[in-house]
Amino acid sequence: MPAGMRVGVLTGGGDCPGLNAVLRAVTRKGISVYEHGILGFRSGWQGPVEDLTTPLTLDRVEEILNRGGTILGSSRTNPYKIDDGIARLKETIAQHRVDALIAIGGEDTLGVAEQLTHDGVPVVGVPKTIDNDLDATDYTFGFDTAVHIATEAIDRLRTTAESHHRALVVEVMGRHAGWIALHSGLAGGANVILVPEQEFSVEKVVEWVEQRFERQYAPIIVVAEGAVPEGGMERLVTGEKDAFGHVRLGGVGTWLADEISKRTGKESRAVVLGHTQRGGTPTAYDRVLATRFGLHAIDAVTDGDFGKMVALRGTDIIRVPLSEATASLKTVPLERYAEAEVLFG
Ligand code: F6P
Repeated sequence: MPAGMRVGVLTGGGDCPGLNAVLRAVTRKGISVYEHGILGFRSGWQGPVEDLTTPLTLDRVEEILNRGGTILGSSRTNPYKIDDGIARLKETIAQHRVDALIAIGGEDTLGVAEQLTHDGVPVVGVPKTIDNDLDATDYTFGFDTAVHIATEAIDRLRTTAESHHRALVVEVMGRHAGWIALHSGLAGGANVILVPEQEFSVEKVVEWVEQRFERQYAPIIVVAEGAVPEGGMERLVTGEKDAFGHVRLGGVGTWLADEISKRTGKESRAVVLGHTQRGGTPTAYDRVLATRFGLHAIDAVTDGDFGKMVALRGTDIIRVPLSEATASLKTVPLERYAEAEVLFG
């Protein structure tokens, strides 16, 4: 195994609890076991394009295991959408004598990593996203923390719902995948869970809400930001697209709360959890998963096993081709959603 390599690391896309745990594991094992030099690139792919760097030393990664966000900063920069982006990225890497990159990110960041491997840049990927929608890994770190936060919010909102006999609609993240909605809804005992994978009938939602009120309890409805009513459209905060073609979603919760009020005559409120779901310290599960991903990613780099992503399969960390991980999104299977539906109302 070659020791003494120069390894560049970056974190891209939305921040996510556990990113710092990966950085710590990569740096600790990279330096103390393999005698590599670790160079942090700041602000996602913007770092190698614009030569924004910061050395990752043993000192620098002290006391960051439980810190949320990322000490490297992040962005949704797509180097393939920037003039000379790839040439500049290659130039920076060469200038710092970086032998390989570790890219920590979701579908977009790892999509770029996959393209770069075809363009001659040696990259190993690490899957992160609170949305848990990356294929080829059982779980991504960040998801457990997001579900915990959303579940705690549901538990707290139940107090007001019951005291005021109101319907409470909780909007959670998830553009195309309803994993956070499904898991937090199940854990919080929601009376309706709505996911982007299946269009919902407002009439049916109202029926479930009324059933709950009839039993003298107040309903909690968990809705993913990307959920769509039958024949309707996604709700957008803005139609503007980011460098990966994503619009900003939001508003379905408020819209649905209004519909429920109009159709049932009962008071109804919407709460949008937004970035609280990505904020703060990671759960123990996410710290362990992120740490194991980091340890295995630096092994893959040292083995020269590029174009791969570390992934969780059962309880093992394995390596899968980046192409496999980024080919399609892992959405909630309809039969899994149907399991939960039995508990609605
Ligand atoms: O990281 C993915 C995600 O959490 C999506 O669920 C959400 O739509 C998006 O990030 C919002 O991110 P931002 O507001 O940072 O653009």
